[in-house]
Amino acid sequence: MGSSSSSSSPSLAAFAVIVLALVLSSAVLCNGGKTSVYVRKLEKTVDMPLDSDVFGLPSGYNVPQQVHITQGDHVGKAVIVSWVTEDEPGSSTVLYWSENSKQKKMAEGKVKTYKFYNYTSGYIHHCAIRNLEFNTKYYYMVGVGHTMRKFWFTTPPEVGPDVPYTFGLIGDLGQTFDSNSTLTHYEQNPRKGQTVLFVGDLSYADNYPNHDNVRWDSWARFVERSVAYQPWIWTAGNHEIDFAPEIGETKPFKPYTHRYHVPYRASKSTAPFWYSIKRASAYIIVLSSYSAYGMYTPQYQWLKEELPKVNRSETPWLIVLMHSPWYNSYSYHYMEGETMRVMYEPWFVQYKVDVVFAGHVHAYERSERVSNIAYNIVNGICIPVKNQSAPVYITIGDGGNIEGLATNMTEPQPAYSAYREASFGHAIFDIKNRTHAYYSWHRNHDGYAVEADSMWFFNRFWHPVDESATSQ
Ligand SMILES: [Fe+2]
Repeated sequence: MGSSSSSSSPSLAAFAVIVLALVLSSAVLCNGGKTSVYVRKLEKTVDMPLDSDVFGLPSGYNVPQQVHITQGDHVGKAVIVSWVTEDEPGSSTVLYWSENSKQKKMAEGKVKTYKFYNYTSGYIHHCAIRNLEFNTKYYYMVGVGHTMRKFWFTTPPEVGPDVPYTFGLIGDLGQTFDSNSTLTHYEQNPRKGQTVLFVGDLSYADNYPNHDNVRWDSWARFVERSVAYQPWIWTAGNHEIDFAPEIGETKPFKPYTHRYHVPYRASKSTAPFWYSIKRASAYIIVLSSYSAYGMYTPQYQWLKEELPKVNRSETPWLIVLMHSPWYNSYSYHYMEGETMRVMYEPWFVQYKVDVVFAGHVHAYERSERVSNIAYNIVNGICIPVKNQSAPVYITIGDGGNIEGLATNMTEPQPAYSAYREASFGHAIFDIKNRTHAYYSWHRNHDGYAVEADSMWFFNRFWHPVDESATSQ
């Protein structure tokens, strides 16, 4: 008894020293937020084989495949319907009718093909249907004259300040088994996203020899189960660039621009890589990390004229989508977004952007509201500081693509980083009214309703109160 108590005293003291050392070291090193203790088992991330059922094609001659929709105008009264036929061009007509009406209407689209390396695309159809009623369920059919397929979507409510609306967030999706898990989790999420804000890097076809564009086709068949029924708002990422001068292609983005149309002209943009839409109570600005953005460039000029147009009394929520994040404390793609941040961050603070969603880094991270706009090279002020007029920056490039997870983080966690975790998942931005929106991030390894990170957003224009205490 005596000997055991005498031997326990030194070990207790040693234990106390270790605990003290740990506390001190964490105080020195961890001046940032939370790095999740959840460590995902590292497994190889592989693309699903081309004969997987998720890539399956309905039977029938010249059957429409890869059906997808996106918003087709600035306010949500139009939809662009796109699809591919393989046997012959067939019809570019869309038949559509509202739930309350039996009378079918018809819209006429256009068809085109493209070549890339040794690949020739199917017949790609795009058809805008316009003058739709707000907040109405529509059915639509494509494949007129051959094999018809029927889908449906619901138009958003009329643009207005207190209109609730629920956006899903997905980035860097690809077509692996993890990608399928992410999409399934999004579909099964009880918060029920009504529109996906997609932050770039779609198919990862460019990871294959000759950018095998068969993988653009398979990707579009994989996501059809969601994007044929609700719009996905597209952002271009680096895997959309497909720059191939060796085959005489002098312009980037060829497969992407042939397959995915966006309503860029409706916001006076001159290119499909940067544009804006209004949807319910949100004003969404899409930017291109891979188009020129310096002073005097078309994108710069457009954004400069665009931001003053946002009327927060009409659309309180100002959301920006881009591919390469400005605030990223992972080792991967570290500081890639820095030059764009230098150009545009003062505007984001001036115009009180609520939240910026980006992808590119294959992990999850949420920032505090910070800005680094005081920095001017010579003044020595180069640490991001808390700023309640600044956006929250969220990296959601965790869709599950073939390149796998980004697990290496810079240490210590910087003060601006509120939460970070190397897991695959998706997020939901659920707007309640002009002042409040509930945000949640869901990792694939949990049940569909589990929130691994969440936060109440307070609108920067109507309720600019520090909400950091609401994050979990
Ligand atoms: Fe990327």
